Amino acid sequence: MKTYSITVLPGDGIGPEVIAQAVRVLEAVAERFDVRFALRTFPVGAAGVAAANDPLPGETRAAVVRSDAVLLGAVGDPSLDHAPRELRPETGLLALRKLLNVYANLRPVAVHPALVGASPLKPERLRGVDLLVVRELTGGLYYGEPRRRTPTSATNTLAYTAAEIERVARVAFEAARGRRRLVTSVDKANVLEVSQLWRETVTRVARNYPTVRLEHAYVDTAAMRLVSDPATFDVVLTENMFGDILSDEAAVLVGSLGLLPSASLGEGPGLFEPVHGSAPSLAGKDVANPIGAIATVALLLRHGLKLADAADAVDGAIAAALDAGARTQDLVRPGESSIGTAAMGARISQLILAEALEGRS
Ligand code: IPM
Ligand code: MN
Repeated sequence: MKTYSITVLPGDGIGPEVIAQAVRVLEAVAERFDVRFALRTFPVGAAGVAAANDPLPGETRAAVVRSDAVLLGAVGDPSLDHAPRELRPETGLLALRKLLNVYANLRPVAVHPALVGASPLKPERLRGVDLLVVRELTGGLYYGEPRRRTPTSATNTLAYTAAEIERVARVAFEAARGRRRLVTSVDKANVLEVSQLWRETVTRVARNYPTVRLEHAYVDTAAMRLVSDPATFDVVLTENMFGDILSDEAAVLVGSLGLLPSASLGEGPGLFEPVHGSAPSLAGKDVANPIGAIATVALLLRHGLKLADAADAVDGAIAAALDAGARTQDLVRPGESSIGTAAMGARISQLILAEALEGRS
């Protein structure tokens, strides 16, 4: 039996709660598909600061690079909001992305038919929404040097090389080939030199993918189109900061940020994390939606371990739970009934195992 080693980084806030349910789903997958997962847990973010005064402790670094895939909950804690940069939880996350060199962040956004009513947008706008944000993850404003702060001025740098743009563009075009064959590259080329290089480079990469159509959109227009006409997007390719903003906006389409998964890929082990943050106000209350983390497990199985059947089973179980009416509180109106984090995880795990029993009979 094949054993895959997965480093688990629960992180902060609701991270540990949603990751506990993701792990439960992995256990169900192991049982059903005759594979083994060797899970090892390490601290990151505020948990890393508490354990080792470092948001990405040395032991955590050593573990992630040796694993087949990394599963992360969320980082962030209000008690460290004013801490020096090197002690901020977010600094640990950015260092982790850089360490693993996971330059392509895939954020699929598909509206589940049963949840059309959970979005504030009109149902007719949501029909057929199935898009993939490909966000560049290890460059741009998040990492640019120089960065500087004085009491009365501040500087961040937006810089990209053609090579950085090319490699993430290739990921977007390859994804588009297996989807509806449209790439929308999002930039601000009417103002920024970096965006002009982005546009030229993406246009050049596109020549290697003759079956995929490429269009360019300015980020302001793309932001508007994402809520006015979201079904017109297939793959949305963009730089780090624009991708951060557009992916939260896209969460409005599906009804809750708590539903969205992501996969960050490079050459080595992938980093898999839900799109949502640590949501400190929800932590410890068994109310967080674990579906983002569980759908992240599906991406880990699909892209990290190449276990497509197992990934399909997890996605199928999520859909079945939603079809059967299971809802966490973020997906219902006040007063409507909902279930907790652990109960949602239990339902989805049971569905994975139940499908196995059906398969055998
Ligand atoms: C995300 C988050 C992070 C980001 C934060 C926590 C640094 O918002 O993954 O989208 O901005 O990349
Ligand atoms: Mn974000």
